[in-house]
Amino acid sequence: MISGMRNNRWIGGAGRYLLSLSQPRRRLPAYDEPSSAPNRCLERFETIKPYLKPDGVGAELGVFKGAFVDYLLSSQPSKLYLVDPWYRLAPEWSWAVGNGSTVKAYERIIHEFRPEIERGVIEPCVQFSTEFLESKPDGYFDWIYIDTDHKYESTLAELELAVRKVKSSGFIIGDDWAEDPNHRDHGTCKAVREFEQAGRLSLHLAGETQQFVASSACG
Ligand SMILES: C[S@@+](CC[C@H](N)C(=O)[O-])C[C@H]1O[C@@H](n2cnc3c(N)ncnc32)[C@H](O)[C@@H]1O
Repeated sequence: MISGMRNNRWIGGAGRYLLSLSQPRRRLPAYDEPSSAPNRCLERFETIKPYLKPDGVGAELGVFKGAFVDYLLSSQPSKLYLVDPWYRLAPEWSWAVGNGSTVKAYERIIHEFRPEIERGVIEPCVQFSTEFLESKPDGYFDWIYIDTDHKYESTLAELELAVRKVKSSGFIIGDDWAEDPNHRDHGTCKAVREFEQAGRLSLHLAGETQQFVASSACG
């Protein structure tokens, strides 16, 4: 179990979920800054953490610079896959805040999470979300966190696989829930609602801090 000071931040502790994530984040390389503001990450995490059981197998689909990884790690997963095509998608992630280089983003993941990678807790996967999910057995994941391009077609393809790949006790979670049909990220909401209406997902929450949490009805 991870517990103690790491890079000037307290992680772990008496309660496995109890972390002082309001402490300063780890020092970032000089070239860069995280893509998501730390306060927003904390809010997002507070919303979803009841669904991330300790010792779970999880995957973050869409990682970029890894601004959310420490939060996900604080749920003490036994395995955390970080899935993003990075440089296979494009030299730059066009929605990036600050430095958009996908090579730099991947480099940051390897550098910042080297201890967890070496211990086998984190596995970075330079893959598209569907390519990655297809490679895993059915009923494998305790949770899958979707934060890729939020397009309707992409989310449909991700959900089609995720409903099979997550355990019956597991959760499909995601970011950037937007009810407004004119919003750039509305595709996620539209696809999830369609799965819900078809009886293939049951929604536990939707919209709070722009997160959604669902269970697969396949299990
Ligand atoms: C919004 S960023 C992710 C931010 C990250 N989850 C965070 O909280 O800081 C979106 C990422 O999704 C990745 N992405 C885009 N299409 C993808 C796909 N089909 N599969 C996996 N990742 C994808 C992009 O390369 C980009 O790095």
